[in-house]
Amino acid sequence: MAESILIEGTTRSEKYESLLNQLKILIGEEQDLISILSNTTAAIKETFDFFWIGFYLVRGEVLKLGPFQGSLACMEIAFGRGVCGTSWQKKEALVVSNVDEFPGHIACSNLSKSEIVVPILKNENVVAVLDIDSTTLCDFTETDAYYLKELCQWLSIYF
Ligand code: SME
Repeated sequence: MAESILIEGTTRSEKYESLLNQLKILIGEEQDLISILSNTTAAIKETFDFFWIGFYLVRGEVLKLGPFQGSLACMEIAFGRGVCGTSWQKKEALVVSNVDEFPGHIACSNLSKSEIVVPILKNENVVAVLDIDSTTLCDFTETDAYYLKELCQWLSIYF
């Protein structure tokens, strides 16, 4: 059977609603974390065509590159470094309107202009972060944070 999702809606909120519903159906009974995270990045890519979408997984004292869609990316990020490491440290979602204005931003590609990072928490510990980059300035708002937090909360059950 072909794996597919059908995203409905025109506004970003409507598309997120559709994405979350479709993703839950797509994942179904799957339990393998890498498979789930991989198709999650693909589904977000199909829905919004953001420049880069990926997970960084907590591995001891660092974040390691996990499943992603997009161009080559740095494979390791230290705690408190960059947007991802800061989200891990603060245990909170970060919406960065202009990456050049974020102190310590790690530029994996100079095409990336804005970014959102959402942590995945398990028993109050960060186990991974979801990182999305856009080539458009100010592409992310609290709407993205709201739905991506919902997504990450759901994904936490698989860790
Ligand atoms: N910009 C991120 C690094 C990861 S890449 O964007 C894929 C950061 O500052 O943590």
